[in-house]
Amino acid sequence: MQPSHVLIAIACLALAACMVPMPEPVPTGTEDFATYCAVCHGDCGKGDGALASTLDRRPADQTRLAARNYGVFPASNAIPKI
Ligand code: HEC
Repeated sequence: MQPSHVLIAIACLALAACMVPMPEPVPTGTEDFATYCAVCHGDCGKGDGALASTLDRRPADQTRLAARNYGVFPASNAIPKI
């Protein structure tokens, strides 16, 4: 096989690889939190993100949501019994 044929074969294989649709990676909840929430709530959710000191109200400490809600995590389906 001539070298030019080898190059063409490689180019065809590379092009074929581009044709296979690659699934979009789905971000994890941790990644979503880092992208959308950590700037205010902090990397660990304590309310100490980079923007926290610029806000009128301090971002909530998300590690204490259940403790501040009668021990029940305040999901929409977890209404506390008082
Ligand atoms: C621009 C800053 C900012 C960003 C970004 C942000 N928050 Fe907040 N968040 C706040 C502030 C400030 C409060 C407190 C509001 C208050 O006390 O009235 C708050 C409150 C909350 C509360 C309520 C806690 C409670 O005590 O009931 C939850 C839950 C929350 N944020 C979740 C999130 C999530 C999840 C994201 C990302 C998807 C996010 N926040 C992004 C600033 C932010």
